[in-house]
Amino acid sequence: MSDSVATAVAHPNIAFIKYWGNRDDSLRLPANGSISMNLGALETRTTVAFSSACRSDRVSVNGSLSEGEALIRVANFMDRIRSLAGEKRFAEIESQNNFPIGAGIASSAAAFAALALAGSTAAGLHLNEAELSRLARLGSGSACRSIPTGFCEWLAGDSDEESIAVSIAPPDHWALTDIIAVVSARHKEVGSSMGHQRAMTSPYQAIRVATAPERLLECRTAILKRDFDRLASISEKDSTMMHGVMMTQEPPLFYWEPASLKIMKNIMQWRREGIPCFFTLDAGPNVHVLCPKEVEKELKGRLGNLSEVENLLSSGPGDAAHLVD
Ligand code: DP6
Repeated sequence: MSDSVATAVAHPNIAFIKYWGNRDDSLRLPANGSISMNLGALETRTTVAFSSACRSDRVSVNGSLSEGEALIRVANFMDRIRSLAGEKRFAEIESQNNFPIGAGIASSAAAFAALALAGSTAAGLHLNEAELSRLARLGSGSACRSIPTGFCEWLAGDSDEESIAVSIAPPDHWALTDIIAVVSARHKEVGSSMGHQRAMTSPYQAIRVATAPERLLECRTAILKRDFDRLASISEKDSTMMHGVMMTQEPPLFYWEPASLKIMKNIMQWRREGIPCFFTLDAGPNVHVLCPKEVEKELKGRLGNLSEVENLLSSGPGDAAHLVD
């Protein structure tokens, strides 16, 4: 049955204002709104095929079969799609990434955005962007930001229906580059889902959340005005505030490695020398270095000379999650 198969592509995203901690963990209603940019050069391509021959959902990522927690998370997500669509069959799900997963490159964002679109389409649903963003959020919070195009804001919202991401500018609005300095492609030990649940055990989480609206306004304005210096200062601050919360949670989460700090200090020094750049880190040790496209080559040269850097990936702004043949 051809209408039971669909393939979708989605890009990961890098947040300038971070999502950390939920008001409701099971619905992934975030403690604060967040703002990000999709990364067009990196992608997850996922095919979902419902079939009466499947006895359970079968998931393969980059050619290897998923099992344990990872499989349960996807199967639970597929249950939501099945109940929305009145679909009884299980599915064969194949996913390919062109970037390393589980090392702070938000692989779950691209994964659940692509799965929401491919899965809902294969099940015969025709969800609009807001409905897709909401669905993707239930799989992984940051995935809701990989549904719309370009630069996106996740509106925290007060309910399941309201908590969705919207595009604030298209990809061609601003030629920014994210150079990802990979210091370790190892799978992280503590995933973000567990981390979010313990965020409020840090005494700094309440103040981070209370002051998030000011940073969201500053970041949104900086993006709309293409004001790099403003974006740099608010993003670095927000990243460090999130890591301050992570490090002071119980149990503490230290995602920064000595190599991460070395790179961060270099970025600050290079900025003093006049090169526009800033850093931001997610739940992993790799450093995302943002810069205007014009200085990408210069910065890649400098980063490549640091012995701490294993590998460099880079991307400009990316488009919305979309269906492919
Ligand atoms: C540090 O969206 O990966 O990257 O909802 O549990 O899947 P789950 O969490 P996830 O959290 C991402 C947190 C972050 C910051 C961000 O991207 O905003």
